[in-house]
Amino acid sequence: MGKITVTVIKADVGGFVGHSSVHEELLATAREQLAKSPLLVDFHVTHVGDDINLIMTHRQGVDSEEIHKLAWDTFVACTEVAKKLKLYGAGQDLLADAFSGNVKGLGPGIAEMEFFERTSEPIIVFAADKTEPGAWNLPLYKMFADPFNTIGLVIDPKMHEGFKFEVLDLLENKKIIFNTPEDLYDLLVFIGAPGRYCVKSVYTKAGEIAATSSTQRLNLMAGRYIGKDDPVLIVRCQSGLPAVGEALEPFARPHLVSGWMRGSHSGPLMPVSVADATPSRFDGPPRVIALGFQLADGKLIGPQDFFADKAYDRAREMALMIADYMRSLGPFEPHRLHLEEMEYTTLPLVLEKLKDRFVKA
Ligand code: 13P
Ligand code: 13P
Ligand code: MG
Ligand code: MG
Repeated sequence: MGKITVTVIKADVGGFVGHSSVHEELLATAREQLAKSPLLVDFHVTHVGDDINLIMTHRQGVDSEEIHKLAWDTFVACTEVAKKLKLYGAGQDLLADAFSGNVKGLGPGIAEMEFFERTSEPIIVFAADKTEPGAWNLPLYKMFADPFNTIGLVIDPKMHEGFKFEVLDLLENKKIIFNTPEDLYDLLVFIGAPGRYCVKSVYTKAGEIAATSSTQRLNLMAGRYIGKDDPVLIVRCQSGLPAVGEALEPFARPHLVSGWMRGSHSGPLMPVSVADATPSRFDGPPRVIALGFQLADGKLIGPQDFFADKAYDRAREMALMIADYMRSLGPFEPHRLHLEEMEYTTLPLVLEKLKDRFVKA
């Protein structure tokens, strides 16, 4: 059999209630739409916070117009339901009036990869709400380049050579490949600034795809505040790639990400089950879910809801402690994002209003 493609496309087309979750009727609509398609080998519809995630397998390759249109039409159908229920921000992420060839640039986030399915093909789909694509930088670094996280880098001869990181400059629209461990320090200079540089994909040294993320920044595309991008990430595991537990391990210590309330705050990324993926406090804290699947001739066997595991209870405790502390700073940086980031939210509107009151000092 030929290659299989795993495509994850996500969008917020209306929140229930506010920006906290997705109404069951929208998820049902998405499932109905995808079930009608003859193109899909399999699919799984889920949500994290107010974002719907369409996890699809097919044999059309990446950037397939048909698959992208299927996702677009599905989100349009969900938007109709969201409008009927008067959900919050109905159609929020659909920036264009109509579909034109590829969902990239139209609002929905997309991560997809094509590969020959191995004898056993474990994959994890991570999805986050109330944050931005750069949120994956730190976990991807740990999974694929940090021997304190991934012992396989040290003791598995199949991983010893290291990996290749493809990094995007989201402001300049450029990309660069870093080889690890050789370019480790160069890599970190850039991906330590996740608001601008973000890891798009990770490859083995032989060029096999290992991980890929969604990297669009809605506010840069729309030129105004829409919401955060709430990114997704696909990671292949085992047999020369990080073990499932190595791919999950970075989330045991919640890192600070940009997003949270009004997309304008820094807060801990809290790992949760799908059932707990309902940001509430100050519209957060930001959440991440991890769904594991075994592929079987393209069928998605699963999901395994990894962060439902008790082993992540402490991470949640820690995230809540960090959330308490960060919240205590109120409107002050670094809880509130620094000015450069605020330029992509609602700050310019406030500045515009006050511009005549600024006089020479
Ligand atoms: P693999 O080499 O099959 O990935 O085994 C490693 C493992 O499962 C350790 O947790
Ligand atoms: P979303 O990006 O998840 O829609 O959240 C927007 C927001 O402003 C939350 O306070
Ligand atoms: Mg929303
Ligand atoms: Mg969201």
